[in-house]
Parts: sequence; structure tokens; C-alpha cells
Amino acid sequence: MNLILLGPPGAGKGTQAAKIIENYNIPHISTGDIFRENIKEGTDLGKKAKEYMDKGELVPDSLVIEIALDRLEKDDCKEGFLLDGFPRTVEQAEALDKFLEGRGGKVDHVLDIDVPKEELMVRILGRRVCKQCGATYNIPNMPPKKDGICDVCGGPLMQRADDTRETVENRIEVYNSQTKPLLAYYDKAGNIAHLDGTTGLENVFNAIVGILG
Ligand code: AP5
Ligand code: MG
Repeated sequence: MNLILLGPPGAGKGTQAAKIIENYNIPHISTGDIFRENIKEGTDLGKKAKEYMDKGELVPDSLVIEIALDRLEKDDCKEGFLLDGFPRTVEQAEALDKFLEGRGGKVDHVLDIDVPKEELMVRILGRRVCKQCGATYNIPNMPPKKDGICDVCGGPLMQRADDTRETVENRIEVYNSQTKPLLAYYDKAGNIAHLDGTTGLENVFNAIVGILG
């Protein structure tokens, strides 16, 4: 099963991805996570990506497409994958389709999670991520049991570098101008489902299970 999670920053793509991979046993591929990992390790890719991420801009297609398709070539993607944050432009979607066609495959489902802007701001500014294991919390909505400490591994919680008010405003604008055209792209392909992301974590997940079976 080849899946794509689509939706604005803070829609809950990463949160739903964690639940989907538990149930469907496919790898979770987040281009944002790949870049953050590279930034942490101080690689050349990380240095390049950081310039764009800190401003809330998209990393150039030429760079992202190569990274994403390289990852999809790995053995663990043979039975399917869950893409989170890729594709984000029509050029990326076309490159993905071409790559899959070359292997006799296709995108099976695009899950588009929609949340209004005011709620996105609240969610992103309240997001806390475990430095050790990556578990995600939300101060108003899903707080950890102990302030600043991960429930799962006891690691320290932190804010993402691009989760500032200014950067988030720009990320949402960039989503509207550069990523939203993908909704029409996949509407035309007929493989997209639109989900209301405001109905609560479990309800959104149940709707996804209803689509995937
Ligand atoms: P990326 O890491 O993909 O970030 P994003 O798209 O901005 O999305 P987020 O990770 O912020 O949100 P999410 O939808 O995963 O929400 P989450 O589940 O955490 O990209 C970062 C940057 O990398 C980009 O800006 C760009 O520079 C670069 N990049 C990455 N991919 C690229 C590409 N393909 N092309 C070019 N550049 C690329 O949830 C958010 C919060 O809400 C959490 O606190 C969570 O606990 C809470 N929450 C989740 N679900 C619910 C719910 N149902 N109810 C209440 N709260 C909820
Ligand atoms: Mg995410």
C-alpha cells in the first residue's frame, strides 16, 4: 500500500503517521524528519536544508526529489510506504508518479487532512517534541503527564526550530500557494480522500482506517 499524507503544517500528519504505521506495518517517510536528522548531524544536506526551513520556505525540488526517491528505493518500501510531507509541489508529485510507474506501481491513497489556520497556529505553537525519541505532544491539547518530560522515554521535550509564530505564518502561506495545487492534481487522479482534521485524534484515525480498510 503506497500512501501519502497531505495537509498544512500542524494538521496532524506526523501524529496520524505514528498510528498508521503501527497498524499497517509500512515505513513512515517524512522528508522533514530526514532534513532535521541531517541538521542534527551537521551534514552538507542539513546545512543546505536549514537555510530554507528556518524561513519556512520549501527546500528546492531538485534536492528533495533525489532524497525522497533514494529513500523509496530501499528494501523496506517494497511492500508499501507512508509519505509524510512529500510531495509538496506538483513537480515533486510528477517525479513520484514517474518513479512508481517505472516500477509498475502507483499511489494508492492520498489522505488530505484539513484544519483551519487559527487551529494550526495553536497546535504548532503548543507542539513539544521529545529530543530523544521524537514523540509529539501538545500543550493545550495533548500534554505530557510531567511538564517537559516525555511519557514514553523520559527524555526532555523541546520546540522545533521552525515553530515560531513568524515562520509558521510563512509555512502556511507556502502551503497555500505551492502545495494546495496538489489537491486538484490528486482529485484528477481520483485517489484522494479529504478528512476533517478537527474531529480529534482517534476520530481522524478511524476515518483513515475506514478508507484504507
Ligand atoms: P515538515 O516536517 O513536513 O513540517 P510541516 O509540513 O510543516 O508539518 P508539521 O510537521 O509541522 O505538522 P504535522 O502535520 O506533522 O503535525 P503534527 O502531527 O506534528 O516540514 C518542515 C520543513 O521541511 C518545511 O517547511 C520545508 O522547509 C522542509 N520540507 C519538508 N518536506 C519538504 C518537501 N517535500 N519539499 C520541500 N521542502 C520540504 O501535529 C501538530 C501538533 O498538533 C502537535 O503538537 C500534535 O500533538 C497536535 N495534534 C495532532 N493531531 C491533533 C488533533 N487531532 N487534535 C488536536 N491536536 C492535534
Ligand atoms: Mg510533521
